[in-house]
Amino acid sequence: MIELVNITKTYRMGSMDITVLEDISLTVQSGELIAVMGPSGSGKSTLMNILGCLDRPTGGVYYFETREISTLTDDELAAVRNAKIGFVFQTFNLLPRFSALKNVEVPLIYAGIPNRLRRERAVPLLERVGLGTRMQHKPTELSGGQQQRVAIARALVNNPPLLLADEPTGNLDSRSGEEILNILTELNRQGVTVIIVTHDPDVSAQCKRIINLKDGRILNDQVNP
Ligand SMILES: Nc1ncnc2c1ncn2[C@@H]1O[C@H](COP(=O)(O)OP(=O)(O)OP(=O)(O)O)[C@@H](O)[C@H]1O
Ligand SMILES: [Mg+2]
Repeated sequence: MIELVNITKTYRMGSMDITVLEDISLTVQSGELIAVMGPSGSGKSTLMNILGCLDRPTGGVYYFETREISTLTDDELAAVRNAKIGFVFQTFNLLPRFSALKNVEVPLIYAGIPNRLRRERAVPLLERVGLGTRMQHKPTELSGGQQQRVAIARALVNNPPLLLADEPTGNLDSRSGEEILNILTELNRQGVTVIIVTHDPDVSAQCKRIINLKDGRILNDQVNP
């Protein structure tokens, strides 16, 4: 599904170049469940943003489903992102004035899908994450774990083959975190490729492969024993 070849990311700060990712090469097969770990500042989110086509590398080559991502225009990149990749963030990133249902529908509004069809897609997803009775609640009327479940339903609404989650349980108590982890592993069992950035050993223990980053490099990339 994914191949990264010698990916680097450098930020220019004044007259200094800061290298945040260096020589990252890896492949991801369709159907994998991967944890990305490493200390704060090691480049985990930067890597996820590149994988998710939210950001471009400074060097190296990125293939997504055999297309070379570096050659795409910004519009083409956005199209790949919308069709193929769902995102879940530590801070949920829901729209505060919209109901849970409307939040899940947002990506479909952008895709120009009519009202009734949007509802037909969003409602079963909210039911699937256990929020069938909370669809009209606004984010402030939901717990953190419930907000994250709305975010997962939103990430899935375009039926993407790849789900990227950057510390999805980082702001949750252990029980809500476990529920979110169960949803993510269940999605993986159903065929979605899932990559999770986490500091939590309970989360990485569920993943079949663990990639450790340090100072912008891959320290190791191992099958979880
Ligand atoms: N836009 C930017 N400009 C300059 N430097 C940046 C930028 N974004 C990130 N960095 C730097 O890149 C490094 C890696 O950041 P990144 O957010 O990828 O780390 P992380 O591993 O996700 O850390 P955390 O566990 O704290 O979330 C950090 O040193 C950060 O300061
Ligand atoms: Mg991060």
